[in-house]
Amino acid sequence: NPVLVAMDLKDYIRDVPDFPEPGILFRDITTLLAEPGALRYAIDALADKVAGLAPDYVAGIESRGFIFGTPLALALGCGFVPVRKPGKLPAAVFREEYTLEYGKNVLEIHQDALGTASRVLVVDDLLATGGTAAATAQLIHRAGGTVVGFGFIIELTFLNGRARLPEGTPAVALVSY
Ligand code: PRP
Ligand code: ADE
Repeated sequence: NPVLVAMDLKDYIRDVPDFPEPGILFRDITTLLAEPGALRYAIDALADKVAGLAPDYVAGIESRGFIFGTPLALALGCGFVPVRKPGKLPAAVFREEYTLEYGKNVLEIHQDALGTASRVLVVDDLLATGGTAAATAQLIHRAGGTVVGFGFIIELTFLNGRARLPEGTPAVALVSY
């Protein structure tokens, strides 16, 4: 997209020390969301980088993956599939447990969320240890989909989350720390 003028999204991401627990430097995207130009740029730049993967669905991970995943799905002309925290989805689900930078969690997907042979792009705000994204990839696989890529706004490279993602599947991040 030649009309996309580069922005430094780091200017809009706030650092909050010791949240949610001592020693964690939290990368807060609420300051980016509040800035219309930065929000639009984040969606357009991510859409630009993943459009070639030709997904049928964007799978957004609760909660912050919903915020970026839905406008991204609209930009790409895809459907949106929510991957949710436990007990939220009403119909039959697949369930995966995983560990994250601070604690444990469970994610679920509707068993019938994806058609067979559908191409799925996994979207979240941030890649840390990769546990969340890897569990989501597993859920998509169990639901009959193929993960064609991962899209993140932020990657914490020192946690090496890419190593936990399926080998050979492209992962894009707009900002790295
Ligand atoms: C954060 C973030 C990612 C995940 C990344 O979500 O939004 O989903 O952690 O960590 P990982 O790569 O180590 O798995 P969190 O679980 O805090 O939930 P939230 O989006 O509901 O705030
Ligand atoms: N999720 C996991 N680690 C995080 C961090 N350092 N900042 C924001 N979200 C996170």
